[in-house]
Amino acid sequence: MKKHLALALAALAASGTVVSAIAATPAETVAARQANFKQMGRAMKAIGEELKKPAPDLAVIRTSAGSLNQAAGHVGRGFPRGSGPDSGVKTEALAAIWQRPADFQGAARNLVTKAGDLQAAAGSGDLNRIRTAFPAVGGACKGCHDNFRERH
Ligand code: HEC
Repeated sequence: MKKHLALALAALAASGTVVSAIAATPAETVAARQANFKQMGRAMKAIGEELKKPAPDLAVIRTSAGSLNQAAGHVGRGFPRGSGPDSGVKTEALAAIWQRPADFQGAARNLVTKAGDLQAAAGSGDLNRIRTAFPAVGGACKGCHDNFRERH
């Protein structure tokens, strides 16, 4: 217990991210990143649903875009060595993440950029801008999943 806490604190000091801070074991690392992805999935769904309505609720879009943007910033640090398929933990992360780390980090940065664009668009309140930025985020999700997440 004490050892875990020490590890978690060391990770926090090293990275400053919440995801790493609570992720001392491979199982915890995988659970934390999956929860982060689920949060992004919920935010995307909420925004997509608003955009289908005749009068989208900008407050909902802004809150979801903020949550999405924050979660996007954790993605690149959610995959430390030893948290892949050979860790014995059930994960959809492909070994390619650790074989082509530069490509993977590029895909993670692309998401950060696109999620930032969406948050800025949401802040502007310009629905046309939001309607352009939203599918670009979806493209960033897909761009990474196609290469680095197990298909199902
Ligand atoms: C840089 C790569 C990358 C990007 C960008 C990315 N994902 Fe993922 N995603 C993954 C990987 C890898 C997994 C598998 C994680 C695991 O099982 O350990 C995953 C898993 C998921 C899951 C399943 C989580 C679970 O409960 O098992 C959801 C939902 C998801 N992503 C949604 C999204 C959404 C929505 C976006 C865009 C807003 C996105 N992802 C962007 C790589 C990415």
